[in-house]
Amino acid sequence: MVTEQIAPQYEGPPQVAAHTATWRHRHLLDVDSLERGEIERVLETARAMQEVLARPVARTPALRGVIVCNLFYEASTRTRASFELAGKVLGADVINVSAGGSSVEKGESLVDTVKTIAAVGADVVIIRHPASGAPYLIAQTIDSHVINAGDGQHAHPTQALLDAFILHDAFGRLDGRRVVIVGDMLHSRVARSNLWALTRLGAEVTLVAPRPLLPAWLARGGEEREHPLALPNVSCDSDLDRAIVGADAVMALRIQRERMRGALLPSAAEYARRYQLTAERVARAAPHAVVMHPGPMNEGVEIASEVAHGAQSRIEAQVSAGLAIRMAVLFLLVRGVS
Ligand code: CP
Repeated sequence: MVTEQIAPQYEGPPQVAAHTATWRHRHLLDVDSLERGEIERVLETARAMQEVLARPVARTPALRGVIVCNLFYEASTRTRASFELAGKVLGADVINVSAGGSSVEKGESLVDTVKTIAAVGADVVIIRHPASGAPYLIAQTIDSHVINAGDGQHAHPTQALLDAFILHDAFGRLDGRRVVIVGDMLHSRVARSNLWALTRLGAEVTLVAPRPLLPAWLARGGEEREHPLALPNVSCDSDLDRAIVGADAVMALRIQRERMRGALLPSAAEYARRYQLTAERVARAAPHAVVMHPGPMNEGVEIASEVAHGAQSRIEAQVSAGLAIRMAVLFLLVRGVS
């Protein structure tokens, strides 16, 4: 029988270290609230989740009886699919609600929608929303755990954690490693969350973009290479050919035309000429440099196809790591809070 064949391979809960028994955060709204040790604990827990995923039957009852709701007001492939699978691998019941096709289309407010979802029993609400701050409002409205799956231009914490996971895999500790992030900084929640995560882990981050795609808080002062924040290890530059020299990692960001209200870029071709990650540009980075992109990509605009699919690319590995990281976050929030 099928049951007899799979039963002996079912190995029980993830082997997380004893010191992961407590976790002080009920929600994951951004990474700015996580200390270095807490980020490292998420990465360590994700490694235990990779062990679960490598089992012949990738299932564990760690979240049996828990109801997880994916509530997405914006399009998503990677984040939504990996959160859904993460919940299922951990034994949770997962429900998916998209704005399209739900009572949101009849005018139901965000607050009423999440109260409804909580009323049907959701223990965890994972939300993607075009408005920055929406997950914070929800966390104040319902008793469920809330995970931010991307809010407007503000934050995308699980993306930053999975990016840190990839860099840890490549380099071990990130102290002194130099990461160049190039692209549409103005609209990028990925860049904002990565700034927090990577600098907390000791990396130096250079943000590269044409001036119209730098937010005012970054461009302020007008001096290139200035330290734009109180963060000591962050600089910005508008010259990718200069900034990329010797970098340990280069991350390209998507040009988010759907969020651009005015003509911020002269043309995609002009942007590509100065900022596309090409093989020639990647050759200026360190020989061991890794190439990343959160996806979805505009190949031929911010990244050349040969780079996106080349030997130094970790883009598919980022997607795979996303599953283990999201399992780790669900597990720590639900089972780790004392
Ligand atoms: N990186 C990311 O958030 O991808 P999706 O929009 O496909 O979820």
